[in-house]
Amino acid sequence: MSDKVGIGIVGAGSIGIRGALNHLVLPDVQPKAYAAAVCDPVPGRAHAAAERYGVLRWYERYEDLLADPAVDAVTLCSPIGLHYEQGIKAIEAGKHVHFNKTMCLTVAEADHLIELAARKGVNLVASPGVMLHPHAQRMRRLVLEGRLGRLVWAAAGATISTYHLEEPVRQGEDVLSNIDPSWYFRRPDGGPLWDVTVYSMHYLTGIVGPARRVAAFSGLVVPEREFRGRRIACDMDDNTLMLLDFGGSFFALGYGTPAGSVTRGFEPTIFGTAGSLVGCCFNGEDLRLPGDHAPHVTPEHAALGESHVFEDLMQLVDWVRDGTPSVASAEHARHVVDIFESAYRSAVSGRTEELRTSFEPLELDDLRY
Ligand SMILES: NC(=O)c1ccc[n+]([C@@H]2O[C@H](COP(=O)([O-])OP(=O)(O)OC[C@H]3O[C@@H](n4cnc5c(N)ncnc54)[C@H](O)[C@@H]3O)[C@@H](O)[C@H]2O)c1
Repeated sequence: MSDKVGIGIVGAGSIGIRGALNHLVLPDVQPKAYAAAVCDPVPGRAHAAAERYGVLRWYERYEDLLADPAVDAVTLCSPIGLHYEQGIKAIEAGKHVHFNKTMCLTVAEADHLIELAARKGVNLVASPGVMLHPHAQRMRRLVLEGRLGRLVWAAAGATISTYHLEEPVRQGEDVLSNIDPSWYFRRPDGGPLWDVTVYSMHYLTGIVGPARRVAAFSGLVVPEREFRGRRIACDMDDNTLMLLDFGGSFFALGYGTPAGSVTRGFEPTIFGTAGSLVGCCFNGEDLRLPGDHAPHVTPEHAALGESHVFEDLMQLVDWVRDGTPSVASAEHARHVVDIFESAYRSAVSGRTEELRTSFEPLELDDLRY
């Protein structure tokens, strides 16, 4: 491998374009990484993306991208339900992997990915790397320093309704702008938990540490959606409320819904006996400071949007080049997968589910802010 990491972009849809290709062409990336190849099964889409972004090679078949020796690492920008199988194939081909959220759909899948990557000596970075944000690390510091007192209760969740139906990259006529979002509403990988609550749950567990048990109710409120005059029959739950037990009588409400919110942004609300975190504020004071940015997000990247996806991809690039593991770890992602998989199981069984996984949250010495 040369000093520059060759990236294979898997899926030239919304995030393949907006989170990967848009960013990888900027000059500051070039000494470290470049877009080596792109693949997408929709006829003409990978070719069109390659032409627009100057990518040397394009493929319709994923296997052909994996066989390309210029590809050192892949960023999986495909629908979530494909990530496990594509991750396993990439690892077997000796490629490092960046997973867009969510990494996979079950703990068994996550275990297999983590175990195989360790055996093959490749690195895994899993989005969303929310704990890379300076304000998130300040929140973790406040908890570790006891500034909230004893933790009492928290709420963490997100709401999504028509967002993916309205993304501009899905409204055009050409192959790079007519991308179908139907999968966001269908089993097995649709619904708000895998899509957006994943951010909130990474924040919450990243700030307070792993959870122990979950109980949930889940159902479908909007069974039919419309996309550009076409009907989408929705079969994935779009309304899930969870109760989480962190131990020590500290409990949290988790949610993924099609309407309404009790938190601010994707950040959680956390109440302690001595203080509270609400959105980005501690006792009313904003924890975001002027000039704050994730390590690789220059103003040029910030202006492009979806810079958090680019940041996570660059975490993998750094890990490959200089051996620095990322905070956006597969183990953290597995714990969040465990919470959602267990919540859906609880909603069917009516029982509280014990979580099987854990991860090492950041310690004071790990915090950069
Ligand atoms: N859209 C967003 O706002 C957003 C933001 C952050 C992260 N993400 C994540 O990015 C990933 C992709 O989401 P998206 O919104 O870009 O989806 P999308 O539907 O817009 O694009 C997915 C692309 O993958 C292609 N694809 C389908 N099967 C494939 C295969 N076997 N191999 C390679 N490509 C294949 C599709 O043709 C399509 O072009 C998901 O993990 C999602 O959670 C999306």
